[in-house]
Amino acid sequence: MAAMRQGSGDVLFCAAVLLVAVSSFLEGAVAVQHVVGGEVSKWSFLHANNKASFYNDWAQNVTLKTGDSLLFQYNNATHSVLQLATEAEFTACTVPKTPVDKWVTGNDAVFISKAGTYYFICGTPVHCNQGMKFTIAATGDFVAAPPRPVGAPGPGQTANHAAPTAVFSGAPSLLLSLLLIATTFVTL
Ligand SMILES: *[C@@H]1O[C@H](CO)[C@@H](O)[C@H](O)[C@H]1NC(C)=O
Ligand SMILES: *[C@@H]1O[C@H](CO)[C@@H](O)[C@H](O)[C@H]1NC(C)=O
Repeated sequence: MAAMRQGSGDVLFCAAVLLVAVSSFLEGAVAVQHVVGGEVSKWSFLHANNKASFYNDWAQNVTLKTGDSLLFQYNNATHSVLQLATEAEFTACTVPKTPVDKWVTGNDAVFISKAGTYYFICGTPVHCNQGMKFTIAATGDFVAAPPRPVGAPGPGQTANHAAPTAVFSGAPSLLLSLLLIATTFVTL
């Protein structure tokens, strides 16, 4: 009798472990990488020049969640990406000496950890005035950025690009280790 009760407890425990594992797997799998400006347009002056609201229009169609990332792809000889602190700076196209953050490689995945309103502009002031700017709001609980690979990204490398993939590969290995733990309990 005692052994049987113990056994059903194990089954419940395993079910709980599996539930946790599966939900964290699903949580990881829904992270999205949004190519800023869309797959064809990307982060480029010409598109903003055609229509000054181009990037804001694009951003309004994006549902941004914490854990997602924004991929900026551009020619780094003429463009960059700055994250600004305030709406006032954003509206005025102020290029601060110390922006919240700055990216210059031409292939930059910006990981979104926190909910809130984000302001991005091109670091070339004229480009911001002509439309290389957008604001976007993110919702969701805090998600820690996946660790960057050691020694990467080097200049011009796409290592940044690889970082969000860690969200995908991390979940299955977590699932695997939890399954191993569950199996251990079943065997006991
Ligand atoms: C936003 O989405 C709507 C509906 O899918 C679409 O018609 C529109 O072209 C999109 N706008 C941009 C700027 O992508
Ligand atoms: C700019 O892009 C070129 C070509 O991809 C790359 O070789 C260079 O390292 C980049 N510069 C910086 C500062 O990342």
